[in-house]
Amino acid sequence: MNLIDGKKIASQILDDLSKKIARFPRKIGLAVLMVGDNPGSHAYVRMKKKACAQLGIDSLTEQLDADTSPETVLQKIEVLNHTPAIDGILVQLPLPDHYNPQQITRAIDPNKDVDGFHPMNVGKLLLGEEGGFIPCTPHGIQLLLEKSQIEIAGKHVVIVGRSNIVGKPLAALLVQKRRGCNATVTIVHSQSEHLSDITRTADILIAAIGQPHFITNKLVKPGAVVVDVGINRVQDESGNVKLVGDVDFSSVAPIASWITPVPGGVGPMTIALLMQNTYESALRRG
Ligand SMILES: NC(=O)c1ccc[n+]([C@@H]2O[C@H](COP(=O)([O-])OP(=O)(O)OC[C@H]3O[C@@H](n4cnc5c(N)ncnc54)[C@H](OP(=O)(O)O)[C@@H]3O)[C@@H](O)[C@H]2O)c1
Repeated sequence: MNLIDGKKIASQILDDLSKKIARFPRKIGLAVLMVGDNPGSHAYVRMKKKACAQLGIDSLTEQLDADTSPETVLQKIEVLNHTPAIDGILVQLPLPDHYNPQQITRAIDPNKDVDGFHPMNVGKLLLGEEGGFIPCTPHGIQLLLEKSQIEIAGKHVVIVGRSNIVGKPLAALLVQKRRGCNATVTIVHSQSEHLSDITRTADILIAAIGQPHFITNKLVKPGAVVVDVGINRVQDESGNVKLVGDVDFSSVAPIASWITPVPGGVGPMTIALLMQNTYESALRRG
C-alpha cells in the first residue's frame, strides 16, 4: 500500500504559487463570508485565512450571526462583486436552514466565484470550456492522482456521493476528454441498488459520503486506489472530537494499492486549489 501524501503535494502547489504571487504587481484579495456558528466551518475558514497569510493574499473574513437575513448577505455580495481589490468571493457552506444556497451562489460574480459553484462555472466545467473555475475539492482530487503518477485515463472511477460540491463536479471533471482525465465514471448514492457490487468494480474508488468509515474492505477491489474525501467530526472514547474519513482506513489500507489519509489527504488540496483559483482570478482581472 502506498500513501497519497496530500499535505506534501498541496505544499508544493502553495510554494509554487507563493513565488508567482510575490511577482504579481498588486495585492490579491479573497473575501470569505460565513453565516452562523458551524464548528467545522470555523475550522475551514481559519485554514483558508492561514493559507492567504502564508501567500501574501489579503483575506477579508466576515462572520455573520445565524439569524442574518439572506437579503443582507446578498447585499454584501453585491458590494464585493464591485470591489476592485477583491478577486475572489466565497460563502462558506453549509448555510443556516432559512437560506437557499443556490440563490446565494448565483449572486456571486462568476468571474470572482473561486469556489466554482456558480451555474456559469458549473456549465463551463461540464462543457469542458476554458475560462471558468473548477471546484476546489474535485480539482484537488484530480491533481492528487495525477501528481502521484496514478493513471486515470481509461480506468473505472466509482464515486460514492452525488453532491453539487464534490460528487457531480468530480464526475464531470474526470470524464473530460483531456490530459489527466479520460476516466470511465460511475456515481453511486443512497438510492443505488447493488452499491457494493459496483464499488468492487472500481479501479479508483472515491468516497464523498459524510458517513464515518462507510467504506470497508468488503466494498473495495484488491489493488484499487482509494480516495477518502470525508471529513467527519466524531468523539473518541475520552470525549475528544477527532476527524475521521468515510473510509475505514485500517481495513481498506492493506488491500488498496494507493490510499489517502484523513487528515492529510484531500483536505489540504482543497485549500491549495482555492488559493490557485484566487491567483487565477487576479491574473484574469489584471
Ligand atoms: N476534504 C475536503 O476538502 C472536503 C470538501 C467537501 C466535503 N468534504 C467532506 O466530504 C463528505 C461529503 O461531503 P458532501 O458535501 O459531498 O456531502 P453531502 O452533500 O451530504 O452528500 C453526501 C452524498 O453521499 C450520499 N450518501 C449518503 N449516505 C449514503 C449511503 N448510505 N449510501 C450511499 N450514498 C450515501 C448521499 O446520497 P443522496 O444524494 O442520495 O442523499 C449524497 O449524494 C463530508 O464528510 C464532507 O465533510 C470534504
